Amino acid sequence: MLNIRPFRAGEAPAPLAALYTSFTTDRIYRMQRTTLSFVLEEEVVDPPFCKTYPLDNLETELKDMDQNLVAELGPELVGFTGVKYEAWNRRMGVGHLYVAPQHRGKGIGRGLIESAVNYARTTEARCLWLETQNTNYPAIQFYRRAGFRLCGLDESLYDPLGLGRGEVALFFARDL
Ligand SMILES: CC(C)(COP(=O)(O)OP(=O)(O)OC[C@H]1O[C@@H](n2cnc3c(N)ncnc32)[C@H](O)[C@@H]1OP(=O)(O)O)[C@@H](O)C(=O)NCCC(=O)NCCS
Repeated sequence: MLNIRPFRAGEAPAPLAALYTSFTTDRIYRMQRTTLSFVLEEEVVDPPFCKTYPLDNLETELKDMDQNLVAELGPELVGFTGVKYEAWNRRMGVGHLYVAPQHRGKGIGRGLIESAVNYARTTEARCLWLETQNTNYPAIQFYRRAGFRLCGLDESLYDPLGLGRGEVALFFARDL
């Protein structure tokens, strides 16, 4: 049975760091722009696009979160997420969100988001907010099904010489 619980300070982060964070997609959202507008158009990509989210600074990032949540099936860690409150604008930022590939599509991601919502509702937060990329077509479908709306984009966020080159940052929010 699925159990979603807070990740306790002092717990070893190794099982989280071992989670497979990759996705593969045969479609993305290509950004088209005019001087003062942006449009995201679905586009088939061949070969498929693959990406792995790095967990290099996980231990530090876990400590930086207000609440980390882990999803377990029996003794097996199958997913996690983390949220951090921004007092100045009352947004609860979602950090990592990963589900083990063999357990995707079974409601675990939704369960983690609903647990994050429940936590956020115990605070002054007015919404959950997160960043993803135009290339993460699967996650965008997931976020929309989980009640998030596109609330912005930033085509200059990622260093073209670094990770995320050629990608556009997309932001999603879900009101609480
Ligand atoms: C994105 C991710 C967290 C979703 O978790 P999940 O457990 O597979 O999602 P769920 O099973 O809870 O799905 C919830 C809803 O989203 C939909 N959904 C999930 N993945 C989808 C996909 N690839 N395409 C279309 N819909 C999808 C489900 O159909 C479901 O809809 P429904 O409840 O209305 O039927 C998971 O796929 C993942 O870990 N991806 C790789 C890492 C990643 O990209 N993380 C996000 C970084 S921004």
